[in-house]
Amino acid sequence: MIFTVAIDGPAAAGKGTIGRAVARELGFAHLDTGLLYRAVGTRALHDGNGVIDPVWAAEIARQLDPADLESPDLRSGRAGLAASKVAALPDVRTALLDFQKRFARRDGGAVLDGRDIGTVICPEAEAKLFVTASDEVRAARRHAELGTGTVDSVLADLRARDARDAGRDVAPLRAAADAFLLDTSDKTISEGVAEAIGYVRDRIFAGRG
Ligand code: CDP
Repeated sequence: MIFTVAIDGPAAAGKGTIGRAVARELGFAHLDTGLLYRAVGTRALHDGNGVIDPVWAAEIARQLDPADLESPDLRSGRAGLAASKVAALPDVRTALLDFQKRFARRDGGAVLDGRDIGTVICPEAEAKLFVTASDEVRAARRHAELGTGTVDSVLADLRARDARDAGRDVAPLRAAADAFLLDTSDKTISEGVAEAIGYVRDRIFAGRG
């Protein structure tokens, strides 16, 4: 069966948690596409001694190995900011395109979360969700997850990243016209997950009918 669930939205809105839960529930494969950009950004920052060289970043993206996505360092705030810088480079995005497109259409169903899954990577996705939450709720969640810094510094980082992601020329963060909007600000994790699973199940039944 080919069935793609595309999940997009701003930083720390709950895309990963929802994506993993939907994939587990349906037995689909899951790809956190943010990790691709985090891995490229972190390596580019390291190789350039704190300065990202765009040509080298694209080369890193072309050579990326799935094993590079395993490092726990990729979850840090620093990796997130580096990710959003390399993510604005067209050659980096092009280098990561095929892998994501193939993953999306693999047999057995796939869930991908990111910024441009429903708009660029897989506009033909059978189910599309755009997950959001208020800035304050997202900052509080990410602060609890990271366990470092202050809520205010995390909030400033998220806002800087969202502005770069939404304002870039290539594949900017935006909801696909046909996406289901899920605001998780006032929802518990299980409520958000249940709503997402309900929507995806409806889309599966709609496709069979
Ligand atoms: O987990 P969080 O939502 O904070 O971030 P992420 O999904 O790991 O993404 C990190 C950064 O990678 C984002 O701020 C985007 O700049 C970039 N990204 C992207 O441009 N396109 C994607 N499909 C996924 C991530």
